Amino acid sequence: MLILGIETSCDETAAAVVADGRVVLSNVVASQVALHAPFGGVFPELASRQHIRDITGVVSDALAAAGVAWTDLDALAVTVGPGLSGSLLVGVNAAKGMALATGLPLLGVNHLEGHLYSNWLHDGRRVRGPLDPPADPADDPPFPHLALVISGGHTDLLLVSGHGVVELLGATLDDAAGEAFDKAARMLGLGYPGGPALERAAAGGDPQAFRLPVASTASPFDFSFSGLKTAVLRLVQAADQAGLPPRTADIAASFQEAVARALVQRVRAALRSTAARALLVAGGVSANEVLRRQLRQAVEVPVLCPPLVLCTDNAAMIAAAAYWRHGARLRDGGPVAEDHGLALDVDASLSFSERGAATGGAGPG
Ligand code: KG4
Ligand code: ZN
Repeated sequence: MLILGIETSCDETAAAVVADGRVVLSNVVASQVALHAPFGGVFPELASRQHIRDITGVVSDALAAAGVAWTDLDALAVTVGPGLSGSLLVGVNAAKGMALATGLPLLGVNHLEGHLYSNWLHDGRRVRGPLDPPADPADDPPFPHLALVISGGHTDLLLVSGHGVVELLGATLDDAAGEAFDKAARMLGLGYPGGPALERAAAGGDPQAFRLPVASTASPFDFSFSGLKTAVLRLVQAADQAGLPPRTADIAASFQEAVARALVQRVRAALRSTAARALLVAGGVSANEVLRRQLRQAVEVPVLCPPLVLCTDNAAMIAAAAYWRHGARLRDGGPVAEDHGLALDVDASLSFSERGAATGGAGPG
């Protein structure tokens, strides 16, 4: 089953073709990083306009790179939220146009669920050719598993017992992990985007130089990063008052170490109180090698992280999520949604649902 995924929730215009929810046939991402860099963050109006310029070319490139025609596809999938409304609307409306023109069903996907499913893509490091062996279902992640979604807007710890059966164990009470990286990088004058810049700066520093705080939270599964951000600010201000340059590399390394400590603490607590058989880490921050290493060292279950290209926003994960969440219905040949998905709307603040509740994700069904 071939699904074309489309993702425009923030500042990447992306399209990808995925076979059977596991095999990436193409994965095209047009990044707007250079466009937003002068503003030190994403400028929403500019993002929407750039998505409009890029979306049709990116979709054509994804089909061409996969070597498939519209008629080979079984469905279209598009991110409906969370994200920037204007950006989401471009992707959703483009996808509706494609669904109308082709008659293909259109599936709405929760971007956060997309990140979760980036770990279901086998061998995402390279694009597969038609002569490659099929992906082995034995390599699918086992249920139940713990999932840690660490992105620019979210820090969610989840217990996943089946497709669409997701229990939110904990979340950040203030800043998201990626937001903390971006803010700390800005304070250190490391530029935009902050996460990768901070990781590079930290590589030359001593993680033990400063013992930065990891906030405790009422629930052992929740996160709080605002105190850590303030601690970085104090170190920068203290250097300034002393007339010295801040010890950028040491502060960056100590900050990264504190984030790792916070993540490890919560994950270990969750592993102790669940029967999770694996840990899946996803979202832009999961690109961080130090965090990956520390998580791998700290837990006894297998730790799955997507290849770097699938950590940050992409459409392969959206196509994969659509397959795993709606594939059975597509295979049955029944209607996947009233109206073929043409009634889809965006939801900028879509999240994983309330604590303790199973969530059905976004879109039709
Ligand atoms: O998942 P993502 O691409 O977009 C959202 O859905 O938010 O995540 C973006 C976030 C940004 O905050 C970025 O600074 C962070 O991921 N990030 C990193 C790294 N690469 C990206 N944070 C730490 N280390 C990295 N190597
Ligand atoms: Zn994302």
